[in-house]
Amino acid sequence: MRHLLAVGDLGRDGIEEVLRLTESFVEVGERKIPKVPALRGRTVVTLFFEESTRTRLSFETAARRLSADTMSFSVATSSVKKGESLRDTVRTIEAMGVDAMVVRHRSAGVPAQVASWVDAAVVNGGDGWHEHPTQALLDCYSVRERRGSLEGLRVAIVGDVKHSRVARSDVAAFSALGAEVTLVAPPTLLPPDLTGWPVTASSDLSGTLVRSDVVIVLRLQRERQEQGLLPSLREYRGRYGLTRERAALLPDDALVLHPGPMNRGVEIDAEVADGPRSLVLRQVTNGVAVRMAVLFLLLGAGAGLGEAAPAILGGAAPRA
Ligand code: CP
Repeated sequence: MRHLLAVGDLGRDGIEEVLRLTESFVEVGERKIPKVPALRGRTVVTLFFEESTRTRLSFETAARRLSADTMSFSVATSSVKKGESLRDTVRTIEAMGVDAMVVRHRSAGVPAQVASWVDAAVVNGGDGWHEHPTQALLDCYSVRERRGSLEGLRVAIVGDVKHSRVARSDVAAFSALGAEVTLVAPPTLLPPDLTGWPVTASSDLSGTLVRSDVVIVLRLQRERQEQGLLPSLREYRGRYGLTRERAALLPDDALVLHPGPMNRGVEIDAEVADGPRSLVLRQVTNGVAVRMAVLFLLLGAGAGLGEAAPAILGGAAPRA
């Protein structure tokens, strides 16, 4: 694999390989000095044309824990503001000597376009409504860590599915690993055509919750109300919010995930977000390890590593 642009680039075997490697990197993250020399001499740049807290910081942390050098590009302080094109921007950055670019952009397809212009490995850090593959990988890892396997698990994805790159990547990853996915959303926030999606759809949240092992709550973008897709945030919360009362309908061992940032009191109640079922902060912790695994696999040191991974993580020289 040269780039990670979508979950489909990995397939089931590739997802399993990332998750296996993530387990080793979770262990590295628990060490007193959570650092390995695996990508020493490599450079990773985060190219974010859209806001981020989790994805950007966790990719930068992941790269540093692998001993790579990092560069950070922020559109607000760049020559993009003087009219420099996307192509000139990425080729300029690559000319400084970059091995991997993590790209976030509000337009779907930009990471793929960047991949066609540069020799560096490109990772999609979220593009428009299209995909956010590392979010799906960390979601799958976080559930698997608690439940052992995703095979046969009933996963509900609740909220603004239509505009959600997380939903698209989660559907692809969870279904590839054998979970049964149900989408729960108001009709205005569901994609108009679900042909080819390995899912069922419902508008009955309570009825879905009673038979769900995992609930992934999506962030509701407040501008959806201005666009006339919702009557009001209060009504949305009343019908589709994971309130404390609704969360009580879940089976005892069910898990709650949210990719962040959360609108507490809209799509999820604070008591649920901070409650014992919630994996929200564990998702963030695991996000660093998942991104270490992805960078490690893409930059060559981890390619086809298989059983040799523990030796490398213990400090042996990287295989370039
Ligand atoms: N989940 C996620 O992508 O969060 P950020 O926008 O903070 O990166």
